[in-house]
Amino acid sequence: MTEVIVVSSPEQGGDVAARVVLDLMGKKTDSVLGLATGSSAGHVYRSLGQKGVKLTGIRAFMLDEYIGIPRNHPQSYWSVIQRDVVVPLGLDPSFLYSPVMSEGHEGTEGGRYEEEIASVGGIDLQLLGIGTSGHIAFNEPGSSLASRTRLTTLTEQTRTDNARFFGSLQEVPRLCVTQGVGTILEARHLLLLAFGAAKSNAVAAAVEGPVSSSCPASAIQLHPRVTLVVDEDAASGLRFVDSHRTS
Ligand code: GLP
Repeated sequence: MTEVIVVSSPEQGGDVAARVVLDLMGKKTDSVLGLATGSSAGHVYRSLGQKGVKLTGIRAFMLDEYIGIPRNHPQSYWSVIQRDVVVPLGLDPSFLYSPVMSEGHEGTEGGRYEEEIASVGGIDLQLLGIGTSGHIAFNEPGSSLASRTRLTTLTEQTRTDNARFFGSLQEVPRLCVTQGVGTILEARHLLLLAFGAAKSNAVAAAVEGPVSSSCPASAIQLHPRVTLVVDEDAASGLRFVDSHRTS
């Protein structure tokens, strides 16, 4: 089921999600996290930092990565996770896994990434954002709901949305590696965050729309344990919000 928690600000949303992470770490000290990159997930990492949390003993698997920029580019997801998680939260760098194993071989190594996830027993808690296109990770509309980790392309909408992190639209990569929708659905708990009116249509389609590859995020409806943390603006397209609330 999808539990919807409506918060009054992204900061409060980050705090709610951080408590979910802490609860898991309290129960399982060697838990496996799935890390999302983006402003929504950033609120969770900041809140964990403010609480003085250290991710000692935790393994973390990244959701996705751009192809076409080097790992040390400031906007590679590798670099963002170093800045947002590894350094401030003390994640052991050797416990951070990226779907890009080696530059130049990105398209053929998805299977190896899946094997690495399986070898540590799977992902306990997967943080997710949602794109205005309805993507999760970089699974754009049209992605099979059974898709696995692979090389794929970004839509113009996503490139335009993410241009704010680059100097210009031209600098935003066109290719990426992403965990597939099917891969994401294997995590034991999905924690999806979305804030702002620009996300309201995508959130409504994901939670209440038909389950369809037209909105890859709608696959969360197939998962037995989903927590959605949204502010009032992102929740504004939900018609049945009260039936998703648990408090
Ligand atoms: C990128 C990431 C997604 C993320 C999305 C939303 O496109 N690849 O995993 O869900 O951004 O980002 P934000 O939280 O910044 O809106």
